[in-house]
Amino acid sequence: MASLFNPELKEFGPSDVYQELSSNRRQKVWAIGGGKGGVGKSLITSNLSICLALMGYKVIAVDLDLGGANLHTCLGVPIPERTLSDYISKKARSLDELITQTPIKNLSIISGAQDDVGIANLKHMQKAKILNKLQRLDADYILLDLGAGTSFNTLDFFISADQGILTALPEPTSIENTYRFIKSVYHRKLKLVEGLLEIGPLIDQAMNAKISQNSTPADLIDRVIDINPEMGHKLRHEITKFAPKLIINQIRTQTDVDIGFSMKIICRKYFGINLDYVGYLDYDATVWQSVKKRKPLLMEFPNSGLVGNFDRIVHRLLKIN
Ligand SMILES: Nc1ncnc2c1ncn2[C@@H]1O[C@H](COP(=O)(O)OP(=O)(O)OP(=O)(O)O)[C@@H](O)[C@H]1O
Ligand SMILES: [Mg+2]
Repeated sequence: MASLFNPELKEFGPSDVYQELSSNRRQKVWAIGGGKGGVGKSLITSNLSICLALMGYKVIAVDLDLGGANLHTCLGVPIPERTLSDYISKKARSLDELITQTPIKNLSIISGAQDDVGIANLKHMQKAKILNKLQRLDADYILLDLGAGTSFNTLDFFISADQGILTALPEPTSIENTYRFIKSVYHRKLKLVEGLLEIGPLIDQAMNAKISQNSTPADLIDRVIDINPEMGHKLRHEITKFAPKLIINQIRTQTDVDIGFSMKIICRKYFGINLDYVGYLDYDATVWQSVKKRKPLLMEFPNSGLVGNFDRIVHRLLKIN
């Protein structure tokens, strides 16, 4: 865990990370979402960004929680002068103009709108343009803090990222919302693949062939395969490529930790998708203490138990890349 804070990491750090740094400079977009508000999306976005920046990667954290933007506070910077609202309203001509350096080396932020220009209100073209421009920013990693909710725009940012990371609390309401989010993403993804493969009528046919009241989205793919094996397998391939990552936040007991494994099993059975449980974060008072101080947790409390939690998660995510 101390490796995160070792400035010599490039020389002495884990070989997988070093290889990643030297051989693969392709920028990766990680989107952090989850159905519910207050489950730790901004905490995770800011601290994963810090982990990557301390490892020597060039990172831009982007606050896409338009209307509820507070990622800058988690990163210990005042509201940047220019935000995504300036880009949306065309006052800024490029996303580069919005990049603000944070006190942490290698880490910049693009802040979200401070007004009520919600992400849900973004027009399709604006969204496509933002996505396209985000992918072209000069950085190794672009981390998107998506904000709460399941609007099409939030789902599309989640789907189009190289890694979609979900966070949930070990509480029934949060778990329900996470399944709702996964279900919405799944249906959105199905729609996109349906358009791509031009198999709308085939999916309608499979949906109409109701086998049982309890049939699941995974059963739907089986029915498509029965009707048209070639297209069905292409569809399954596309759907299984979609493997969201899961972080359970505010863990207090082993039972809390195990919830992630149960969610993984349920997602496989119900949706036929591989939910990758990449780790958990302990419930820890240093989180609210750092929020109150408006300082980034990992910088303010380098001895917090969460340092080890984040270290494990970031290495796991880098291995998957
Ligand atoms: N691991 C933790 N231990 C203790 N408190 C935590 C932890 N994670 C989050 N919290 C508390 O939950 C609050 C909300 O976290 P955060 O702002 O990251 O959530 P969010 O999902 O981004 O919320 P929103 O949907 O409002 O943007 C934190 O300010 C903190 O008080
Ligand atoms: Mg937030």
